[in-house]
Amino acid sequence: MDFTKLKKKFAEIYGEGEIRVFSAAGRVNLIGEHIDYNGGYVLPAALNLRCAVLARPNNTDKIRIAFTTLDERVVLDKNNLQNYKHLKYGNYQAGVAYVMQEAGFSIVGCDLLYDSTVPFGSGLSSSAAIEVSTALALATFSKESGNTAKDIGLVELAVLSQKAENRYVGVNSGIMDQFASAMGKKDHAILLDCSTLKYEYVPLNLLDYSLVIINTNKPRSLADSKYNERRAECEEALKILQKSLDIDNLCEISPQTFEANKHLLSGKIKDRAEHCVYEQDRVIKSIEALKKGDLIKFGQLLNESHKSLKELYEVTGIELDTLAETAQKTPGCIGSRMTGAGFGGCAVSLVKTQNVQDFVERVTRVYTQKIGYSPSVYNTSIADGAYEIKERNL
Ligand code: GLA
Repeated sequence: MDFTKLKKKFAEIYGEGEIRVFSAAGRVNLIGEHIDYNGGYVLPAALNLRCAVLARPNNTDKIRIAFTTLDERVVLDKNNLQNYKHLKYGNYQAGVAYVMQEAGFSIVGCDLLYDSTVPFGSGLSSSAAIEVSTALALATFSKESGNTAKDIGLVELAVLSQKAENRYVGVNSGIMDQFASAMGKKDHAILLDCSTLKYEYVPLNLLDYSLVIINTNKPRSLADSKYNERRAECEEALKILQKSLDIDNLCEISPQTFEANKHLLSGKIKDRAEHCVYEQDRVIKSIEALKKGDLIKFGQLLNESHKSLKELYEVTGIELDTLAETAQKTPGCIGSRMTGAGFGGCAVSLVKTQNVQDFVERVTRVYTQKIGYSPSVYNTSIADGAYEIKERNL
């Protein structure tokens, strides 16, 4: 929705007056999948698919929430923020307010209207975009109310947003999504070391190639429970390996050390650990390739990543496999893989710009024939992370 319409809608719901707008990004992860919670490197980028929250303090103890895409309205009492975990809508916002209050922010009652263009359940971090935009709005009002001396650091807000997701919503996600949503930079990917939160912006100079993001449109019913199961499997592998190796996480292990010690593991646990060790290696090689402008090599690494997520980590499924493997065989495409948690959601492909239209047509046709419904293609670009949109830009 455009901002004139959005402001009109906000005024209809909450009345006339000053309106602030905070925006946070959805993200695509280029490579480094399922290793953020294993202390690995990841390479996400923020997208121009975003969540905007229009906001205004309301001088009450209530946080009132409305959405442009739902009739649902939610009211949270800032003195009882622990009570809203069961909510279908508004639980992310409650979780963020709750963990921020715990961290010493003075939560200010406010009116909020959410407008998101990040497709839900797509693996493009629609929930992180809600969390981070909420955190930025609440932190800004907290600071301006004069009750909180804290300065607003986007990294801190990303960490608090992750905490809300882990401890309030109950999904044990890593830090990648919230970090990318908050800290992204236009036309750059973020190389993030998830064991230290040190990061570096990597220019995404794709020459005559483009990133194409396609959604399987598969409903993702089991994603959260399977996600938590994978985390538990990695923890089990780590515990076993720690008996012999001096390590804090799986991604510290080099491929050579893994090969020398993999007999200590067996079955699925071994497969999960093997994915993590080699995915970390692929991120390192991807950075080298990108810095040299070797996109063909980068594309091969994307393909290898998908194969490992399919065969060793088992988080793809027929929909994502059909999408990525069809893409890999389509002229002009030099690499394709699932992105995000998997089990549905999106694939990202690197495609020669002049071939994009034919590529999309072919992948859509083959996917629809095999799966029985069509995928969605997003027209996106790499954007900044979270920020307040100042009035002059509205
Ligand atoms: C989800 C999680 C992230 C990350 C990815 C897989 O998006 O929220 O923390 O683990 O899955 O790489």
